[in-house]
Amino acid sequence: MLNIHLPRYERIWLWIGGASLVLFLIILALLALLGDLNPPGNMRMIAPEAVRTTPPFDKPGLKQIGPNEYRATVVAQMFTFQPASMTVPAGSTVHFEVTSPDVVHGFEIPGTNVNMMVIPGHITEFTYTFRKKGDHLIVCNEYCGSGHQVMMGSITVQ
Ligand code: CUA
Repeated sequence: MLNIHLPRYERIWLWIGGASLVLFLIILALLALLGDLNPPGNMRMIAPEAVRTTPPFDKPGLKQIGPNEYRATVVAQMFTFQPASMTVPAGSTVHFEVTSPDVVHGFEIPGTNVNMMVIPGHITEFTYTFRKKGDHLIVCNEYCGSGHQVMMGSITVQ
């Protein structure tokens, strides 16, 4: 121990501060190791000017890849999503892969935790299971130019 005189309350608060720091670091480590919550790594890359000619983005669309499992290949560009609308049965797991040939866009489905930043040069991926029937809007939530506010799509769960 340091030979500094600290008032009792100061020592108590130092211990509380130190203990909460350790606690937060432990929570962070547990989330990363057990919850698999990590920053994205090894992202798939694509040259923005080659999006239109590189599979699978040369043919954007929804493909069934298993029972109740789909891959949605989406091109986000000023000021549309391709495909603009998709339909899946309730209970479907959809693997989204999205890229942009022009500027940064957003890909958000309000009411779900699907919320991606679509960066030219990168292929952004996210998987979501649509359990309930209903219509979902897909919105661009990154300002991308004069038509930003009309940039939207839809996904119908039936
Ligand atoms: Cu695309 Cu805003």
